[in-house]
Amino acid sequence: MTMKIEPITPHIGAFMRVSADDVLQSEVIGRVLEALDRYNVLVFPQIHMSDERFAQFTAALGESHDLGVTEDASRASEKGIYRIALDKDDRNQLDFIKGNDFWHMDGTVYDMPGKATLLKCEVPPSEGGDTGFASLFAAWDALPEERKRELEDKRVLHYMASVGRKMYDAPTAEDFARWDAVFPPTEHPLVWHQKSGRTSLLIGATAGDIVGMAEAEGRALLDELVEWATAPCFTYRHKWQRGDLVIFNNPALLHRSYPYDAASGRVMHRTTLKGTEAIS
Ligand code: OGA
Ligand code: MN
Repeated sequence: MTMKIEPITPHIGAFMRVSADDVLQSEVIGRVLEALDRYNVLVFPQIHMSDERFAQFTAALGESHDLGVTEDASRASEKGIYRIALDKDDRNQLDFIKGNDFWHMDGTVYDMPGKATLLKCEVPPSEGGDTGFASLFAAWDALPEERKRELEDKRVLHYMASVGRKMYDAPTAEDFARWDAVFPPTEHPLVWHQKSGRTSLLIGATAGDIVGMAEAEGRALLDELVEWATAPCFTYRHKWQRGDLVIFNNPALLHRSYPYDAASGRVMHRTTLKGTEAIS
């Protein structure tokens, strides 16, 4: 077995060079989990894993979170794999997938957001559809101490309608009801000190309001923080090729897709590792 790890930028990302035949070995699993903590985004260029191996690899890395069977009931979903593609007509699923085009953290509806998300490229988009990652850890570390103190005790509301109103020009009461049903307002601290000793911010598209601040003022602060955290020095943008696999440390990052449409053909297969650390 050989595995090479090459850092991509000083703050984020590493290329992982290993064969799909070797990924279930315990030594590889150990080094992948270690690298995930250290580099936060792991790119396995053109590793070409079968769905079966992908499901086994995910299970070897930790307990997986079943996102539910995708409505197309594809073969992949039988293996616990979620299919990300725009060729469907389920409104909730389309809203989720289109909502991915805004910087966000996964699973902010839960007390324990997922530990990691895995994305495998089945069909690369003919146009658009890159995925961006931004290190919240690096962005927090670089904030001036005084700014950190100002943010420390703030609380933030996360909810699906916060994403919806960015996507829709004129959302109806029905749209809001649909969004509230899947992801009602959930309160979190703005600043998340994690057991690793690193700190991230609970910001991104699902963050709609700062508790106790006027709506416009709170949203302006949230926008400013997302802009700070997604500055080029904290980010890595991945252009997909068929067979690529990316694993990212969800609580460490904001991530997003760049816009693409159904005609681009883009299909990704996704698995999710359950969170291991409650927000506190
Ligand atoms: C997700 C997500 C990004 C992408 O599945 O949560 O943000 O590029 N995906 O598809
Ligand atoms: Mn996401």
